[in-house]
Amino acid sequence: MSTTIAAPCQPAAVPIDPAETVILQARDSVFGDQVFLCTRGRRHLLLSASRLEELGFRWPDDLEQTSERILRSFRPGGPVPSPAPAWPPADSMAMREWLAADLAGTGLEIGAGASPFPVPLHCRVLYGDRLSYEQLTAEPYPGQRICDLVVPEVLTEFDEIRGVADESLDFLIACHVIEHTRNPIGSIAAAWRVLRPGGRLLLVIPDKEKTFDRERPVTTIAHLLEDFHAPDRQRDLDHYREFYRLALPVPEAALEETAQRNFAEEYAIHYHVWTHESFAAMLAALPAAAGDWQSIWTHPGVGDGSNEFYARLVKAG
Ligand SMILES: C[S@@+](CC[C@H](N)C(=O)[O-])C[C@H]1O[C@@H](n2cnc3c(N)ncnc32)[C@H](O)[C@@H]1O
Repeated sequence: MSTTIAAPCQPAAVPIDPAETVILQARDSVFGDQVFLCTRGRRHLLLSASRLEELGFRWPDDLEQTSERILRSFRPGGPVPSPAPAWPPADSMAMREWLAADLAGTGLEIGAGASPFPVPLHCRVLYGDRLSYEQLTAEPYPGQRICDLVVPEVLTEFDEIRGVADESLDFLIACHVIEHTRNPIGSIAAAWRVLRPGGRLLLVIPDKEKTFDRERPVTTIAHLLEDFHAPDRQRDLDHYREFYRLALPVPEAALEETAQRNFAEEYAIHYHVWTHESFAAMLAALPAAAGDWQSIWTHPGVGDGSNEFYARLVKAG
């Protein structure tokens, strides 16, 4: 079911209420040794015991054992972030925490899958996806646990953001999603429309050199601008041909049939591919119709083994 988010709101820090918060573990279950902070109907994975103490709870006195059934009755939410993440961040999770640390108010995460972003607990987060919960659970990505998949409340493509009122959100997050969109600049323009002045767009993008996309050429700015100004299904099909020739190669004889079939089924490929430098160049070349952004910041991957880089755009106010 999709929802229209109507009322623009002022960012507000709403602290969690300890009286309505429980720290739960269900050892003999799919959740194993994981510990969750459960509040406002959502469960948030605790990444360290010290984080619990930072929030005013006692370890291990406040930890209660429960059943898988009770834990499942809380909807998945993002992990509990550090309230004061250090700079420079040591790894991808620390970088994500740092990026989200000063968010407030109400936001939307698009394409959270089973790894929602570590957003401060005082924020209200809505989830969106192009696929319904039933579709997401029918075909989980490799390694995704169904019980960790968020339930999307807003069903939309990122490059349209249907069902969300103009200037109604304080932040919008898309982590490993923009590469799946047919129209990345259109996605940035759609984000600009739904953000209130001063609102933030946080993007995490896979670095093509560190993924199965490494043999593909970087998508050119001219191509991205063409997708924005003159969307074209034939050009979309060409992405499938490139994907099955260079990213997940199939034998030459099966290439056209594979590309056509997956195109018809709208199988989620990486349409476009970037390095940190080429993404920053695209942001520097955004047309006026993609919105007036007060600041645009990017950062390369951090830590050993990172396959992603980061962008933060703040809407002019
Ligand atoms: C690769 S997963 C990323 C999951 C998670 N954010 C992470 O980083 O592990 C991509 C998610 O975005 C959704 N998605 C893909 N293309 C999309 C689009 N054009 N619009 C909205 N959601 C999309 C997918 O259904 C999926 O849930």
